[in-house]
Amino acid sequence: MVKKIGILNGGGDVQPINAVIASIVKSGSKRGFEFIGFERSWEGVLNPMLYRTLDQKSVRGISHVGGTILGTVNRGRFSAKKGAGEVNKIPDDVLQEAKANLEKVGVEALIVIGGDGTLSGALQLAELGVKIVGVPKTIDNDLDSTDKTFGFSTAVDIVTEALDRLHTTATSHDRVIFVEVMGRNTGWIAVNSGLAGGADMILIPEIPFDYNKIVEFLRKRKETGYRASVVVVAEGAAPKKGLVTSMKVGDTFEVKLGGISNTIIQKIEELAPGEFELRNTILGHIQRGGSPNAEDRILAKEYGVAAMDAVERGDFGMMVSLKGDQIVTVPIAEAVKKLKLVTTDSLTVQTAKKIGVFFGD
Ligand code: F6P
Repeated sequence: MVKKIGILNGGGDVQPINAVIASIVKSGSKRGFEFIGFERSWEGVLNPMLYRTLDQKSVRGISHVGGTILGTVNRGRFSAKKGAGEVNKIPDDVLQEAKANLEKVGVEALIVIGGDGTLSGALQLAELGVKIVGVPKTIDNDLDSTDKTFGFSTAVDIVTEALDRLHTTATSHDRVIFVEVMGRNTGWIAVNSGLAGGADMILIPEIPFDYNKIVEFLRKRKETGYRASVVVVAEGAAPKKGLVTSMKVGDTFEVKLGGISNTIIQKIEELAPGEFELRNTILGHIQRGGSPNAEDRILAKEYGVAAMDAVERGDFGMMVSLKGDQIVTVPIAEAVKKLKLVTTDSLTVQTAKKIGVFFGD
């Protein structure tokens, strides 16, 4: 039977990672398992290894603290995916090094806390026979095969609070304020926070926008007495007639996200010079920092315990997943096959539209 378990988190941090780590260790220790936490993501599994023993004492009092006690990196030798791009084959020598190192420290199963990229890497190791259970983590909520990833709810709360604050100052000054939010190639954070925070317009990657229609919408609002507007823009939003910028990262090019709200503001100024007083707020990593909210803490703890249950059952190559009010397991291979996108017929988008929120198309 498996006795020693490795825990690793990869990719960007989210607020409730420590809550997952603590619930794995607490529930597993009671069942006689031992734990090693790998530091700095997959880097900790590769040479020179970076790891520490985790026990009940070392995870005490961390569940409400944001970030991750293990640290993390979202690039490096073990990168399997760049954004929504194709899966990279991790070099065989790197995979073999990781497998051998896990054996060297006596780790018989690995719980991998990660999003699309981290779990795509985990899958390649699982194909070499390493026993892996995945836990779905990302503020973007874009992992397929689960209703929700942990971190998403807290990010939505943070953006909603920012929108409440921006509404009052936008109204005082009769300004149009743009708020750019994270989410990579999906609009989950934008749509949910936009609906909760009363956005007048929401722009998301799934619904390409038209600059002229945006100007028309703002004009119409002004004519009917609404001089102030708050617009939520997902960082991956793009106009109907495409605009994709890329940046060099290492030896490859990645789609560069961030800054689309500035581009939109410039374009509005070109199409309607001086008609609107425009301002921009890019929330950036504020969305990932600080303490997790109550919903995320609960979900993280449920995922942590469910991951331990999966290890105990020998349910390897699987990811724990929220389906309705149950945590089930699904193949990691299924979960990373495609991104989960916002659909225009979803309840959230339809509700927003019926209230009068404009999606830029
Ligand atoms: O995937 C999570 C995420 O926060 C995205 O929403 C965002 O585009 C990206 O990570 C930012 O990455 P980094 O931490 O490398 O700036």
